[in-house]
Amino acid sequence: MKILLCGKGGSGKSTVAALLAKNLQAEGYRVLVVDADESNYGLSAQLGLPAPEELMTQIGGKRAVQNRMGKVRVNGEKAPVFSELWSIDDIPHECVSGKDGLFLLQIGKVKHYGEGCACPMGVLSKDFLSHLTLGQKDVAIIDTEAGVEHLGRGVVGSVDLVLAIIDPSYESIKLSEKIFAMVQESKKPVHFILNRADSELADKIIAKLGKKRVIGVIPFSKPVQEKGLTGEPLDLKLPSMTSVTSFVLQALKKEQTDDA
Ligand SMILES: Nc1ncnc2c1ncn2[C@@H]1O[C@H](COP(=O)(O)OP(=O)(O)OP(=O)(O)O)[C@@H](O)[C@H]1O
Ligand SMILES: [Mg+2]
Repeated sequence: MKILLCGKGGSGKSTVAALLAKNLQAEGYRVLVVDADESNYGLSAQLGLPAPEELMTQIGGKRAVQNRMGKVRVNGEKAPVFSELWSIDDIPHECVSGKDGLFLLQIGKVKHYGEGCACPMGVLSKDFLSHLTLGQKDVAIIDTEAGVEHLGRGVVGSVDLVLAIIDPSYESIKLSEKIFAMVQESKKPVHFILNRADSELADKIIAKLGKKRVIGVIPFSKPVQEKGLTGEPLDLKLPSMTSVTSFVLQALKKEQTDDA
């Protein structure tokens, strides 16, 4: 199962990605965290894993992707970057860090002044995810750049579940409505996680969004904030993550039953 996390800047996407990944690892799943954020660098620290070589570097840089994007197949479609399906084990080992069932892959970061737009990163993310095949005990968690650009690019087309992280702000709630509408167009399931919300604020937000759509409420956590400052791994068992983890475990079990 491929699970994409999205939401407003700073809402807690990477924090939830790291906490969920560690919880699923503890449940015996092999978890590949895909860092598809072309700007921020914090996820590897939150996971406690070294940053591997970027996939973009491995395949020859943005120019290599652009060259592929320029090629058009006979049927008029753009040629994909990858021609074959691959499993987690097939990914070049220098592009994956981690062990014991928790792994990190980075698509690519913007590094240089004037290097041009990040479109090739979006193309690579979409192409990588559409060619990634997962076993029954594998999960991919995709942490994305803030906003809705990846939704506009259709990255959601190759994922199975979208989780939108909402912080208690007008901006975040407005964006979540946009995310909901866009993901619905893709016909993929989308659910919300409220972050940094006390129960009073959570009730107000849930009244707006609808109870069924919200799968978890994570209050402000001093340890999370402190580790966010020092860059220490998020080795924390947050009780508030239990409902999010249970929801995902149920979805994984349903997928296994449907596949059987
Ligand atoms: N529940 C929480 N309690 C306290 N601090 C939190 C909580 N959730 C996230 N934070 C802190 O808020 C900051 C932003 O979180 P995070 O990096 O996960 O957000 P993001 O959505 O991934 O941001 P970006 O859009 O920049 O990628 C971090 O410093 C993190 O430690
Ligand atoms: Mg982030």
